[in-house]
Amino acid sequence: MENRPQWGTRAGFILAAVGSAIGLGNIWRFPGVAYENGGGAFFLPYLFALLTAGIPLLIMEFTIGHKYRGSAPLSFFRLKKGAEWLGWWQLAISFVISTYYAVIIAWAMSYAYFSFSQKWGKDPLNFLVGDYLKVTDAGQVGSLVPGVFIPLIIVWVITLGILFKGVKKGIEAANKIFIPALVVLFLVIVVRALTLEGAAEGINAFFNPDWSQILNGKVWVAAYGQIFFSLSIAFAIMVTYSSYLPKKSDITNNAFITGFANSSFELLAGIGVFAALGFMANQQGVPIDEVVSKGVILAFAVFPQIINELPAFNGAFGVLFFVCLTLAGLTSLMSIVETYVAGFQDKFKVSRNKAVAIGGGVSALISILFATQGGLNFLDTVDAFINNYGVAVAGLVEIVIVAWIAKELGNLRNHANAISDIQLGSWWNICLKYITPVVLGVMMFMNIRTDLT
Ligand code: PHE
Repeated sequence: MENRPQWGTRAGFILAAVGSAIGLGNIWRFPGVAYENGGGAFFLPYLFALLTAGIPLLIMEFTIGHKYRGSAPLSFFRLKKGAEWLGWWQLAISFVISTYYAVIIAWAMSYAYFSFSQKWGKDPLNFLVGDYLKVTDAGQVGSLVPGVFIPLIIVWVITLGILFKGVKKGIEAANKIFIPALVVLFLVIVVRALTLEGAAEGINAFFNPDWSQILNGKVWVAAYGQIFFSLSIAFAIMVTYSSYLPKKSDITNNAFITGFANSSFELLAGIGVFAALGFMANQQGVPIDEVVSKGVILAFAVFPQIINELPAFNGAFGVLFFVCLTLAGLTSLMSIVETYVAGFQDKFKVSRNKAVAIGGGVSALISILFATQGGLNFLDTVDAFINNYGVAVAGLVEIVIVAWIAKELGNLRNHANAISDIQLGSWWNICLKYITPVVLGVMMFMNIRTDLT
């Protein structure tokens, strides 16, 4: 424990945390989730979840990592004997996510390359599922698809290469380059998208509130799920990253910066994506909801089509977009893998290199399953499962254990206040102990009830 690695600078830690938070979830998940769940009306539950759950939980996780100086299982063990399993459970979710997250980054990398020649042709959806992913009907795992396999290996070589170099020379150094680059490139994309014909209608559709959705439990759970996924909360990540903080660190401020930076980027991505969708609807003369989609289809079928229809500089726009996806994905993937690297190191007392080689190696091998025929069906199922049952539940269980079973909120608040500029008041305890479990619990209960009837 004495020679635990440390971040070199405060900015380095913040960039790494922001790098973990900003990921595929911001660019391809958020715009579609917001649109489906009431558009402009979604922002109310979203903001509520950010302020009463997202940021308070981030502060809690930063404090736990900083106070107990361990990977998630070790930190939860030190917080309360018997709570170690919580860390392993979160780590297991992270492990599963990393195996398919890597594959999506590999696609983004291929598509950056395809952008030069618009290799996807006139029918990008057909190209995606037919030629590129070779999706089979039965959804069975078939033979390897080389077009996916090769970039996947590159993704793992880059990620594990960075992790081998360590926390400061690897993760911190990479984020210091990747995140500023991502922000600048992404701004170029958004400005370009905003100047396209039809952009205004797209943005209108995005912000247009459907207030009839506001009391729907699914909308609220979706908002919490989006905030937790997007901020990388309850995945063992933020605890791990903050366990590398120096003793003197301003925890609360760092959490606010991370939370607001992530949501700002998310909003920016929503605006950019919908401006581009508005352009496409305009070109095809169809209403906007006919072109809205999310996830794999949005990024790898709809965007190529938009790129096809751009009046000029198609190739450059495509390269920028997919390079952004790749950068955003890589900085998140390294944080996910770091959770189990740190967990194995603490538990089995192995060296960092061994933990990276074994932990990263095994997930790389498993991820190859997704690079086979039918891999997309498999990926969709796992992703839906994690999102519907994993994310919000994991956050809720963590709060209940820390606030109600271990009764540690008071101690954690004292710990954070002793080293931070912003002093946490009782609002913080109230948010975590009462508001979040009640709102999230009731909404989940409502969902289960409607699902059953
Ligand atoms: N927060 C990242 C995103 O928005 C994804 C992520 C999820 C990273 C879970 C780590 C763990 O895409």
